[in-house]
Amino acid sequence: MCGIVGYIGEVDAKEVLLKGLEKLEYRGYDSAGIAVRNEQGITVFKEKGRIADLRAAVDTSVEASVGIGHTRWATHGVPNRKNAHPHQSASGRFTLVHNGVIENYHLLQKAYLKGIQVASDTDTEIIVQLVDLFVSEGLSTEDAFRKTLGLLHGSYALALLDSEDADVIYVAKNKSPLLVGVADTFNVIASDAMAMLQVTNQFMELHDKEVVLVRKDGVTITSLEGTVLEREPFTAQLDASDIEKGTYPHYMLKEMDEQPTVIRKIMQAYSNEAGELTIDADILQALQEADRLYIIAAGTSYHAGLVGKEYFEKIARIPVEVHISSEFGYNMPLLSQKPLFIFISQSGETADSRQVLVKIKELGYKALTMTNVPGSTLSREADYTLLLHAGPEIAVASTKAYVAQIAVLAVAAYVTAGETDFDLKQELAIAANNIQAIIERKDRLEKIAEDYLKIARNAFFIGRNLDFCVSLEGALKLKEISYIQAEGFAGGELKHGTIALIEDGTPVFAIVTQKAVALNIRGNVKEVTARGANACIISMEGMAEDDDAFILPKTHPLLTPLVSVVPLQLISYYAALHRRCDVDKPRNLAKSVTVE
Ligand code: F6R
Repeated sequence: MCGIVGYIGEVDAKEVLLKGLEKLEYRGYDSAGIAVRNEQGITVFKEKGRIADLRAAVDTSVEASVGIGHTRWATHGVPNRKNAHPHQSASGRFTLVHNGVIENYHLLQKAYLKGIQVASDTDTEIIVQLVDLFVSEGLSTEDAFRKTLGLLHGSYALALLDSEDADVIYVAKNKSPLLVGVADTFNVIASDAMAMLQVTNQFMELHDKEVVLVRKDGVTITSLEGTVLEREPFTAQLDASDIEKGTYPHYMLKEMDEQPTVIRKIMQAYSNEAGELTIDADILQALQEADRLYIIAAGTSYHAGLVGKEYFEKIARIPVEVHISSEFGYNMPLLSQKPLFIFISQSGETADSRQVLVKIKELGYKALTMTNVPGSTLSREADYTLLLHAGPEIAVASTKAYVAQIAVLAVAAYVTAGETDFDLKQELAIAANNIQAIIERKDRLEKIAEDYLKIARNAFFIGRNLDFCVSLEGALKLKEISYIQAEGFAGGELKHGTIALIEDGTPVFAIVTQKAVALNIRGNVKEVTARGANACIISMEGMAEDDDAFILPKTHPLLTPLVSVVPLQLISYYAALHRRCDVDKPRNLAKSVTVE
């Protein structure tokens, strides 16, 4: 959600900025812009729409070795050219890009900027106008930047250019991600390392409320109060090829195909020298000492959390509550005596989850983050981290990270349990092979998408127990990328109201992998087909019947979500393709949701 890049060095900045923005496209955006500075001053190019539109609007004859760039996902003000970043102060001296939300922008505008005509509907513009105001009152740019930061309430990652000083980009962050990339003859900034891997793999983490001056030949980090802080760069463990699509038409397809490999990587990453599954001793102790686990997550990660609850309760015998992060922080339930909080987040940057983390840390509780992004905010701010090892997930719709979350939750629950009556490693290996087998039957899934969803306006996904958890994820996948209205339901719940929506031809996808409730869910299928539904049954070997549309290879009953989700992901993908939707970048969505 929104992305920032910046470059200060010796070569022309435009291409580095545009390439960087292209790498940030996956985060979701609706407009984009860059500002570059040379002897003639600062030139801004910005457009509504895609980076390709911005590229077309950039005047290639303008050469400059300093610049900042931005992709905007609208929060304050509609997505249009006027509201796109960079924004400039009324005098034209300062130019700024911003991610996040300034909660008190209206108050600041009233208190300080009464006579100043603003050009956009954004909260961002207030920041750049404040810097200009304080400079006009006699402060240096750095002091004006500091003073402005001290007034802001909310989340931000900022990069500021001063048209009267070509040597520096002023940078700061609070709650929103931002890194500085370092090299010998230039330095860069980026919302995530992927954007600047093209030029460096050395990055410095920035902490909230630091003031950072990025120059061509150095980076100065200070606290808001002015104390100079030392920071060593780290090497980003990413390969530029990890973020390429290769011969795939879409990242989503590539990422679904990677799912067997992801499970195998997790098994390797969480094995000791004897080949047994293991997790860090401190994490194990925290899990074993907890009297209740509170899983906090959003969207797909929340759906993985629902599966995680089953694992910790059934395998490790620890009670678990799963909460939607945006609800929990503002309405905390009664907590147990010794809770442990588990944050599940692919990006590690989700603002809804972070606000919970901040609150529970203030209350003195311990937190474990399960994330795909080492060094992400939720990882840094929690006491412990378990990495997902899924590799960069670029498609907005999460697929391999969901599978990774479930596999890591299974490992954590299994190791916490100590004694178990099954060999998880062996069962995960079987699940990985089974996913491979499903992926090889894409043609069948494409046909199912065509048969059931070609003309559908809505669809239902039903299941019971673990299959219910997966039905929620199946429905989310379908709606987010194909825009078909879809709902996941517990099979038995449909008849309590929602069955009224079933009419002739309504597609109902039913998942049947849980023996104890197989007959019940088949009964629910009968209820909907009797009312005209077009039922597509996805069942597991050993409990399949003749008319079932797709049979899943036999998998351990606790691990069925790893395999049953895969046909649902692929059916959604093909349904979206049939409708000519932008599969990797669905409308209105962002990969990393950094506002609450
Ligand atoms: C859906 C999807 C979202 C995310 C949600 C949380 O495909 O990706 O629902 O799961 O925005 O994001 P993370 O996991 O990064 O906290």
